[in-house]
Amino acid sequence: FTINNSTYPETSIIRRKLTGYVGFANLPNQWHRKSIKKGFNLNIMVVGESGLGKSTLISTLFNMPLYPPRTPKDPASEIPKTVAIDQVTADIEENGVRLHLTVIDTPGFGDFVNNTDSWKPIVDDIDQRFDSYLEVENKVNRTTIVDNRVHAVLYFIQPTGHSLKALDVTVMKKLHKKVNLIPVIAKSDTLTEEEVLAFKKSIMTDIANQQIEIFEPPKYDNDDEETIAENTELMMNVPFAIVGSSDAVTTNDGRIVRGREYPWGVIEVENEEHCDFVKLRQLLIRSHLEELREKTANVLYENYRTEKLSQQGFQQDHSVFREVNPAMRQEEERALHKARLDKMEADMKNVFQQKVQEKEQKLKKSEAELFARHREMKEALEKQRQELEEKKNRLEVGRVGEEKKTRKGFSLR
Ligand code: GTP
Repeated sequence: FTINNSTYPETSIIRRKLTGYVGFANLPNQWHRKSIKKGFNLNIMVVGESGLGKSTLISTLFNMPLYPPRTPKDPASEIPKTVAIDQVTADIEENGVRLHLTVIDTPGFGDFVNNTDSWKPIVDDIDQRFDSYLEVENKVNRTTIVDNRVHAVLYFIQPTGHSLKALDVTVMKKLHKKVNLIPVIAKSDTLTEEEVLAFKKSIMTDIANQQIEIFEPPKYDNDDEETIAENTELMMNVPFAIVGSSDAVTTNDGRIVRGREYPWGVIEVENEEHCDFVKLRQLLIRSHLEELREKTANVLYENYRTEKLSQQGFQQDHSVFREVNPAMRQEEERALHKARLDKMEADMKNVFQQKVQEKEQKLKKSEAELFARHREMKEALEKQRQELEEKKNRLEVGRVGEEKKTRKGFSLR
């Protein structure tokens, strides 16, 4: 085309076809190289009732003993009971790709008659991780933010074979808006295949009825058929039926595998026909790690951040927080301060009014008491007066009688 204007002489731009390689098709490779250099990180939390095999699954996921090795004859050497929120980290490398994995082990709950607030330390820990991120994000220098937010929670369901317990519903509802919730059936080797299928169905019905949000792989318009099929297959297996064990056992055909040994045979942890451990690991690490991280950062953390900042008096303005403008921020702080003072004044007025009302009521009460006492005294006095009056009358009658008698005596003489 041609540009015509007074300052520039007439210029003609010659159109040429691009024959060489421009290079934006190489962008994924660039991103790939950068990601490999930086590595990935994933923080998983395990939550559930006591003794459901949370710590065991952590060891199984890491594929390394995180607890002292057990000796079957010494029961004291069992995995110790988790009593506080604890985290273990491991750097895993596969084909040159580094993954910094953190698993947060939480103390099991459900041991007490009253389990009302047993989920509180867990929710507090998730919030605290969001708070720390928010704090670092608001600092002037925020080049090195370490992401400690929980990217996924594995929620352990007791293998009862019936339905979700009331405590499970409560805890899942406390968590589902804050984390990517992935329900798993613990110790699924204690159920038969049919029982597992029926239990999965019943759990999913409860989850739908209770409107509990669990993690689902996001759907994109350009998803290919293979991805769609893979995701559908993955979701069809939720809640994943899990078997955990770091012990090496020998199968009937002589293979050494990680599993649990029974008189009737071996349950293999990594055999997809025996349990869903591999599917769970695939979702967490192989296929949806980025989605879990992205949803945590873009949806769950953003919701938490918006709510937190709104509570502190900030408002979101076209998805940019106004705190970036110092003048506006000062104005907002002044308004906040005024609002706080107004609230204090209103509170004080309320307290004053309450006190006056209390005083008035007290006065009314003592007035009524005084009035009652006065009436009682008046009545007592009136009674006394009447008694005296009667006595006086009686005396009077007696005196008149005596006089009459005396007068009669004189006249007889
Ligand atoms: P807390 O720390 O008390 O919350 O327990 P936890 O949920 O961490 O359970 P832990 O891993 O300590 O396991 C408790 C017991 O269950 C141990 O004896 C494990 O060997 C056993 N266990 C763990 N996973 C499984 C499993 O998949 N199947 C069976 N049958 N037993 C398991």
